[in-house]
This record gives sequence, C-alpha cells and structure tokens, in this order.
Amino acid sequence: MDSGPGAGTARELPVVPGGLPMLGHAIAFIRDPGTFLLRHHAALGEALTFTALGMKVASFSGPQLNAAVLGQDDNTLNRRFIHDRLTPAFGEGHIFDDPPELIAWQKKVMRTVLRREAMAQHVTTMYEQAERYTADWGPHGEVDLVTAVHEMIALFAAHCLVGPRFGRAMGPALPALLDPLVPAVFMSFAIHSRAPLPAYRRRNRARTALSRALKDIAPGDRPHGAEHGLFETITSTPRPDGTTPDANTAAAILTGQLFGGYVNPSAQAAWSGVLLLQHPRWLAVVRDEQGALFDQTSVPTPQLLDKMVWLDRCLLEGERLRPSARGILRTAVRDVNIGGHLVPRGHMVLVSPAASHRLPHVFRDPHSYDLDRYARRAEHRATPSPLIGFGGGRHPCLGMAFAQQGMKVLWSVLLRDFDLELVTTDVRPVSPALIAPPRRPCLVRYHRRKP
Ligand code: HEM
Repeated sequence: MDSGPGAGTARELPVVPGGLPMLGHAIAFIRDPGTFLLRHHAALGEALTFTALGMKVASFSGPQLNAAVLGQDDNTLNRRFIHDRLTPAFGEGHIFDDPPELIAWQKKVMRTVLRREAMAQHVTTMYEQAERYTADWGPHGEVDLVTAVHEMIALFAAHCLVGPRFGRAMGPALPALLDPLVPAVFMSFAIHSRAPLPAYRRRNRARTALSRALKDIAPGDRPHGAEHGLFETITSTPRPDGTTPDANTAAAILTGQLFGGYVNPSAQAAWSGVLLLQHPRWLAVVRDEQGALFDQTSVPTPQLLDKMVWLDRCLLEGERLRPSARGILRTAVRDVNIGGHLVPRGHMVLVSPAASHRLPHVFRDPHSYDLDRYARRAEHRATPSPLIGFGGGRHPCLGMAFAQQGMKVLWSVLLRDFDLELVTTDVRPVSPALIAPPRRPCLVRYHRRKP
C-alpha cells in the first residue's frame, strides 16, 4: 500500500460513530484504549478516526500501518504534543527536543550509559541490587509484588544510569519522586499544565527535589566501570550550536532518563510476572530454565542472560498483552497519506500497541497467554515487526535493551531464589492511567528456596 506525505488519491478515514459533546470518545478510549479500538476495528477496519477532548485522532493498527506511521519523519508527523506535556515534568531541554541535530546530540550523550560495555557492567550491578533488596525477606512471607518491582527497578535506574552514590542516597526515594510526574503528564492531556491543581503542585515539588538531588550528587558520580558519569558528559559535551548545557538542563535530561528507566519498565516487569504466575504451566518452564542455568554457575553474566530464552519469551508476552506504552502519538504537520488513507494536517495520529498486539490475523488466539508463539511459531519475527511496545521506525526506544535487561535480571532473581504464588488472583490494571501497571495491593506469597 502507498504511504507517505501528500494527500494524493488517499481516501478519507472511516469515523467512529457516536461520542459525547466536547468529550467525544475520550472516556472509552482513556479507560481502555485497546478494547475501544478493537471493538471499532471489527466494523470499520484498522484505520479509523475518532474525536477525544476536541482533538481529531487518526488511529492505525497492525504491522503495515504501524510501520507506515512510525516511519514518517518529524517534518510530517512530529512529537511536539507529547514533548510539551513532558516539559513541566522533566524541565526545559529534556529529550524529544528539536531540532534534529539536538536530538542526535541528546541520544549521543544518553548512549554513554547504554552502550554494550556499560550494559555488561549493569548486569552485575542489577543482580547485586536485586539480591540485596530481597536479602531481608526471610524464609517465607507476603509482599506487594507491584511495590517490590517498582522499588527494585528504581534501584537499577539510579545505580546504572547515574551511579552508586546517587543509587544509595536516592534509589529508595526515587519512586516517591517519579510517581507524581506520571498522573500530572496524563492530566495535562486535558487540563493546561500550569493550572493551579494539587496534582501539578505535587509534580513541581517532586521535579524540584529530584533536580536538586541530581545537581548535588550526580556531578561526582558515575556508574560502576564507567570513565565518566552522565551528568559530567552532558555538561562537558558541546551541543551542535557550540554551547554546553548548564546544570539545570543536565538535570532535566537525567530526569527524563530516570523516568524512562523507571516508569515503563516497572509497569511492564510487574505485568510480565503477574501473567507468568497466573499460568503455572509456563511458570514451571521458566523456573526450570533458571534452575538449570544456575546449577552450572553462580556468576551472572551477559552470556548467561542470553541463554534465558524462556524468560525472554515471558517478557515478550508481557509486552504484547500489557504494553506499558498503550498508545504512541504524533501530530500531522501537513496532509499525509498513511497506507492509502488521508490524514489531514492538525490531526493527532495514533498507533496503539494495546490494539495491535491483539489482532487475530497477527497473533494466533491473541487474548491467550502462550509462550510457544515465540518459539516454534515465531509470530514476533514477521516483518515489519508486529510487536511495537518499544516503538519503532524513526524513533525506536533508546533504552529498550536496558529495560529488557533490568526486567530479566529482576525475574531471574525472584524465580531462582523463591517459590512464588499470587495471593491476589484478580489483578486489574490501574485505570484511567497513562501507564497502567497492575493495581495495588497485588500480594504474592513467597518461600525462599535456598538459604
Ligand atoms: C519497558 C520499558 C520501556 C518501554 C515500554 C518504552 C517505550 C518507548 C516507546 C514506545 C518509545 C517511542 C516513543 C515514540 O515513538 O514517540 C520510546 C522512546 C524512547 N525511550 Fe523508551 N521505553 C522503555 C524504557 C526506556 C528506558 C529504560 C529508557 C532510558 C534509559 C528509555 C528512553 C527512551 C528515549 C530516550 C526514547 C526516545 C527515542 C527517540 O526520540 O528517538 N526508554 N520508549
């Protein structure tokens, strides 16, 4: 199918009927974007348009249409809408900023803590942090799984993205500082981000405290094994215009990096584990894999992680069924033809992992939990990629490998060291929400396997 800029002979998108005055379809969409879109796909197809809060949204699902949207350049579909909503949470000069040369500069500095050699060191740090975190759990007991996962992922992000001093001082406090940013970003889709609301005041207090801590601690800190810390790299690497960022900009970039390193991975890691624990047949397979690998060695390495293929599949199924990025948004800068459909200038453009990951012509029996789909059937290897939980095209997630590694280490430690059983069996997503982690309390009973 033809896709690309220009209206050409493109046809108009079918319109989702109904909707409330002013709100349009916002309530149904926000409550559960995947269910809303899948319901309308049945009648209208996988390219459609609806209104929400006065905005016109052109929505596309399925591998070909997703690729057609995500492959567009920023002069056709830009990310200003989401960028403007992240600025009050992170501070001026954070990621997603333009022009393109500046984005390239930002990615270059952020990669210094994400490249291969750094990632190998992060394996050791992450195992140490997860083992230390669970060390005082005792021989058996109950914990809130969602809280435990959030706290461990926060420790990984603080230690590996900033450094051990920051990790020790701020790792345990990070959830309290990053959590208030999430609902504030979500609310700013509907209400101006400077409105005098308690949620925005909480956001401002949290951002200021985090920025202060970063400016105090991060300049002298660096991840284990790294030559330089990220803060130092940012403030000493000239931008394309020759200037170097000040401490406030460095703190904004680091806040964005910590947000990326905590908010999405903690929701997705929690769901991946909940789903696995709800499916004992697959739990046994993934647990046995840990047992077999750690029978041969006690030293976790990147090579050992590579051998955890069933755990990989468990994380892929978590990404597919409960993607933490339920929608990826753009704005049409000009009229554009997406897969033969006309998207007029000014429309929001949406691709939805939540809907795309449950299409029956892409994933067999799409609502069922089945790790075999990534083994013999290799449903995820179709081209273009049917899994888009980490985006794709022009702006794939910069931290995908970091997030996957963290989620993997976390579940490797929990499944290797404990027998786990869900106490809360009816686990539902937080709703409405920007990211929809499992609702708390989500209790799990544990028995330690080795002394
Ligand atoms: C489970 C965890 C994660 C998920 C589901 C996730 C999801 C995504 C998605 C869907 C995008 C594409 C956004 C778009 O196209 O508009 C994205 C981009 C991005 N992510 Fe992640 N992310 C995760 C973890 C991380 C981590 C750990 C970091 C950093 C340490 C990170 C940093 C970024 C950055 C910098 C971009 C922008 C890339 C660009 O502009 O080209 N993410 N992420």
